[in-house]
Amino acid sequence: MAGITNADFLNKVIPYGFNVATLGGYSLDNPTIEASEKIIERGRKEFVFPSDTIFRHIESEVASIKKAHNDVKVSANVRATTPQPIIDIGKIKDLDIVEINCHCRQEEILAVGCGQEMLTRRDLGDFISQVADNVDCEVSVKIRANVEGVDTSNVADIIENAGADYLHIDAMKKGVFEADWELLTEICDNTNIKVIGNNSVNSEENLIKMINTGVDGFSIARSVISGNLDFNIANF
Ligand SMILES: Cc1cc2nc3c(=O)[nH]c(=O)nc-3n(C[C@H](O)[C@H](O)[C@H](O)COP(=O)(O)O)c2cc1C
Repeated sequence: MAGITNADFLNKVIPYGFNVATLGGYSLDNPTIEASEKIIERGRKEFVFPSDTIFRHIESEVASIKKAHNDVKVSANVRATTPQPIIDIGKIKDLDIVEINCHCRQEEILAVGCGQEMLTRRDLGDFISQVADNVDCEVSVKIRANVEGVDTSNVADIIENAGADYLHIDAMKKGVFEADWELLTEICDNTNIKVIGNNSVNSEENLIKMINTGVDGFSIARSVISGNLDFNIANF
């Protein structure tokens, strides 16, 4: 989930010790697809597929990873303004996890109420429950921490109570180049949902800090994309 997370790329990096591979993020409905097209126009690389081809595309990406790495869980990170398109993707054969994107901070996505703007929705819990109640695969919710005006711990409770299986937190902290270790520790101490910690796992030192917060797992984006992962994650 950092610009180039398609099956070809994931199949190359999975052998470095990953047990979950995340495809996407994909925009699923007209408002988020139009927003993504605007993002492309201003030079950002994003994935845009027309709504009538996106299902088949993700299906074939999942199949490609499963063919090469049958023991790895495959997740798809998706954006939509309503639960139904996410539920549809959650029914893809062999997809293990559908991940609701409450994380993106691109203005065009925020303008249609998606990405981190989802964290301010009064019906956030209901949105997640509708997905969780209607798919057979697991449900993850990817959030950004420390969004202005949002109480991250409260959001974590809402996500747990809505029946999601994973809380995937980009524990970004304004003004520092490391994750918000204290917040992650607080959330791990006070929730029962599986917490996947994300942000700044770019060295063995930071990975140890991440593990010490009590997270159930961790994810890595930029260090994998840049090829700068200089430690063996299989050792942790
Ligand atoms: C170019 C770029 C594109 C990204 N696209 C997505 C995305 O589509 N969905 C998502 O959940 N996160 C996305 N992210 C965020 C990363 O998955 C990750 O949360 C963030 O980079 C912090 O983790 P890191 O320090 O391991 O890179 C993107 C990040 C970058 C740099």
